[in-house]
Amino acid sequence: MRMYDIIAKKRDGYKLTESEIRYFVDGVTSGEIPDYEISALLMAMFIRGMDDEETSVLTDAMANSGDSVDLSGFGDLSVDKHSTGGVGDKTSLIISPIVAALGCKVAKMSGRGLGHTGGTVDKLESIPGYRTSVSPEEFIGITEKVGLSLVGQSGNMAPADKKLYALRDVTATVNSIPLITSSIMSKKLAAGAKNIVLDVKVGSGAFMKTPEDAESLALSMVNIGKRCGRKVSAVLTDMNTPLGCAVGNSLEVTEAVGVLKGEVHGELRDVCIVLASEMVSLVYGIPEDEAEKKVLDVLDSGAAYEKMKEWISASGGDVSYVENTELFAKAEYEKTVVSPTDGYITGMNAEKIGTASVILGAGREKKSDLIDHSAGIIISAHTGDYVKKGEVLCTLYTNKEKSLDCAERLYLDALELGEKMSEKSPTVYKIIR
Ligand code: URA
Repeated sequence: MRMYDIIAKKRDGYKLTESEIRYFVDGVTSGEIPDYEISALLMAMFIRGMDDEETSVLTDAMANSGDSVDLSGFGDLSVDKHSTGGVGDKTSLIISPIVAALGCKVAKMSGRGLGHTGGTVDKLESIPGYRTSVSPEEFIGITEKVGLSLVGQSGNMAPADKKLYALRDVTATVNSIPLITSSIMSKKLAAGAKNIVLDVKVGSGAFMKTPEDAESLALSMVNIGKRCGRKVSAVLTDMNTPLGCAVGNSLEVTEAVGVLKGEVHGELRDVCIVLASEMVSLVYGIPEDEAEKKVLDVLDSGAAYEKMKEWISASGGDVSYVENTELFAKAEYEKTVVSPTDGYITGMNAEKIGTASVILGAGREKKSDLIDHSAGIIISAHTGDYVKKGEVLCTLYTNKEKSLDCAERLYLDALELGEKMSEKSPTVYKIIR
């Protein structure tokens, strides 16, 4: 087999065979195929597309290109959730203890933040002592004992995706549905859960800017997951505005604890209830309304909050920070951003707000950057709210005083203010099963 022939075949719009796709992924993983040939095939795949059969072979080959997690000991109870990435998205911190309190097994590997979106691992590391890097035995052991373990990604999961993603990033071939599907689903398959709920974000802060594009991606991922033997569903949720009020690591943990304690309501809690219900419904094969009732029961009884404490403690974290979030170190500098005029907030560009939080120190622009866990933004006024001139829009927190002005400019630039209230986007657009 020759890469030259495979590239020419896809360039001319033909379907690739299973052995051609596996030859390609094997060569990418071993490093035998040069970057220029990989990039040429990626571009041909981007332009010509791939059908479900090709995409599912590509996904399976990438999933098996490195380490995988064996969760077979948990039978049908293992469940994972994946978010396509957002600003202020702390849903994993809330949903995981909810579903674990209902007997599901969550052995979850999460990422770090990069660019304008945050990462669950960084958020958890704001809790002193929490260990995001543990041995595979401990990872499974904590899940067995508590029902939930959440750690960083192992070094050698889906290495073919790592290589392909890095090349897609620099060859303008990221935004292809079969390539995104195989990239995301290969990592989810390698992570081992039988049941997978995908939170596909839609809007200005998301990868997919329109509900139509998000739906196409969701359909493709659900389809491929099923072909690869998993139970999968996708929830299309809004990312036109940051989720909840907090953006930044310990600030987001505080908000997540607030939801579990029953102190925080609104869209964040609503999205978490939908996602958790979907997970419980998949695991136990029960209707969505029955699953939602169970979810509300463990939220209202405090069982999910107790599960969070059990989980944090089993992972080495100092649980007193969960019991009293006032213990989190405060950033040295804070500044309130006020409205320059009267009007309705008609839009909030989540990407710009995420970038403002990065500037304050809450995220990283390069992989090697250090995170300031206390930095970030607390949003006081959201899309749809009416604000008066001088009214507080948000508060910025940082240990880098000089970043305040720039973050303030960016935050104001992210907002659209108008005289008429605009139609608010739905919190949940659609569920695809
Ligand atoms: N996230 C991924 O992991 N892969 C993609 O291709 C896009 C988003």
